[in-house]
Amino acid sequence: KNIEKAIFSWQTPSNIALVKYWGKSNPQLPKNASISFTLDNCHTITTIDFEKKEISENVDFNLFFEGKQKDEFKPKIAEFFKRVADYCPYIFEYKMTINSENSFPHSSGIASSASGLSAIAMCLMSLEKELNSDLSLEFINKKASFLARLGSGSASRSVEGPLVVWGSHPEIEGSSDLFGVKFPHKVHSIFENYQDAILLVDKGEKQVSSTVGHNLMTNHPYAENRFVQANDNLGKLSEILQNGDIKAFVNLVESEALTLHAMMMTSNPYFILMKPNTLEIINKIWSYRQENNSNICFTLDAGANVHVLYPLSEKEAVNQFIENELANYCQKKQYIYDSVGFGAKQL
Ligand code: PMV
Repeated sequence: KNIEKAIFSWQTPSNIALVKYWGKSNPQLPKNASISFTLDNCHTITTIDFEKKEISENVDFNLFFEGKQKDEFKPKIAEFFKRVADYCPYIFEYKMTINSENSFPHSSGIASSASGLSAIAMCLMSLEKELNSDLSLEFINKKASFLARLGSGSASRSVEGPLVVWGSHPEIEGSSDLFGVKFPHKVHSIFENYQDAILLVDKGEKQVSSTVGHNLMTNHPYAENRFVQANDNLGKLSEILQNGDIKAFVNLVESEALTLHAMMMTSNPYFILMKPNTLEIINKIWSYRQENNSNICFTLDAGANVHVLYPLSEKEAVNQFIENELANYCQKKQYIYDSVGFGAKQL
């Protein structure tokens, strides 16, 4: 079909890994399977305006972020288009104007690559669907996740929700290294509407880019054991999510977070990405859990911010605890309340 002009808008979420992806082989294949909660409030909204033009050798696009032209973000997106070009040859036939905004503050230490790249991938798939109306929803989601992965591995987990597995795993039917799939089993009700409060401990620039980070696992003395452990943990977590054993959930999720940071501390070069306040918060969470017979727990990304995870039934009490105590350890007392969401939405 010939399409002269088209415009599509998508809202796509960020995600937080429970079993972490850390280590890849080229171009963008994970060394172990990972699973994440899809978030709801933390998202990117991206609109792409496609205008037909003469076919050219380079991908032709303009980029606006929060209304302003952002040439400094262009190389990353140009690299993404280069990687997806073989699978989306039509991008050479359009001039694209991309407008993007995040619901969360820029450089808050919340990774925007997962939501940002999955949003572009969804817009490309909307164009592809216009060009070829036979595409099924299942194909569109799979291919969007496949494309997003080529930009940033974790972005493959930002198309669907509430739980997404990326990486081939014997106990997850349909799982693949090439794209994320929805967790295929019925999840126990305790994990429905799970809460995630993101405590912004340090909003500075990332000390370790994820490319550098993943490379630290090459020749890492503990790498092979780590990859085995992550896959084992995913198998265990799959059972836990189904049977509702929340104590086991807390134990596994916190262990995964600390292991991710342990990998960084034991690589060469080595990094400590936690800040003193990260540790203060972790200790406060542990005391609170014990004193209140609570099931609150934490997880971490490759940075100092803390994600506080808790069931919906504890929302009121934990939010009080966050506002009264944990907020004191955040930069400018900033935190974001979020919860598990259901994936990309066309606007
Ligand atoms: O998607 P990347 O390449 O930015 O890597 C993300 C890695 C972690 O956020 C630390 C873990 C994960 O699985 O999301």
